[in-house]
Amino acid sequence: MPEPGNFAEDFFAFVADHDGPSLAAHIHRSASDDQVREFLRHKSIYHLKESDHTTWVIPRLSDTVKAAVMELQYDEYGGGNPHRLHAHLFAQGLAASGLSAEYGAYIDEVPVEVLEQNNVMSLFGLNRRLRAASLGFLAAFEATSSSPSRKIAGGLERLGFPAEMVEYYTEHVEADAVHEQLAVRTICGALLAEEPSLHEDVFFGAWTSLDQDDRYAQRMLGAWTS
Ligand SMILES: [Fe+2]
Ligand SMILES: [Fe+2]
Repeated sequence: MPEPGNFAEDFFAFVADHDGPSLAAHIHRSASDDQVREFLRHKSIYHLKESDHTTWVIPRLSDTVKAAVMELQYDEYGGGNPHRLHAHLFAQGLAASGLSAEYGAYIDEVPVEVLEQNNVMSLFGLNRRLRAASLGFLAAFEATSSSPSRKIAGGLERLGFPAEMVEYYTEHVEADAVHEQLAVRTICGALLAEEPSLHEDVFFGAWTSLDQDDRYAQRMLGAWTS
């Protein structure tokens, strides 16, 4: 874990140095239609309530950090347009793909890693003592989204998925390239400028995000490619 220094550079280096298995690369190049449908059913547990866990943490932040988080959340929640909410885009994609967009429809079939990821996001957001972990998790999540979203969109196109499903991912190619800067530099940067002692907690949250992604990817690649 990096020592306090140039936070944003250290954070981006921490994420870049992380070398986990890539589910997005598999989806891009060689996943079957069935595998991608399974992936989308698993992802529905989070994406149908996308960003809500970050909303939990907002009342637990200082004015400066709160204002920065709201800028990001405004975008995740559609910038005032209910048809542009990211959760809504994912629901549209599921429905167009012949999958259920009802919340929790697939909860009984998801692997434990998916439940764990969703639980930890709520745990971080709902506890003031874990506010820095919540924002570190957010920053790592955003910083590892843009390029995988491009690959997943390519895989969906390769398999002939409907435009609505592809659009959810293409939206995230650009949106999360902006969000990662906002989350790392403006949100976590403001938090640590005010409370430098939370440095380790930010990296703990980031590590948690990367680790959970890795373990989910390992499980699915093991099941699909063995
Ligand atoms: Fe999003
Ligand atoms: Fe985002």
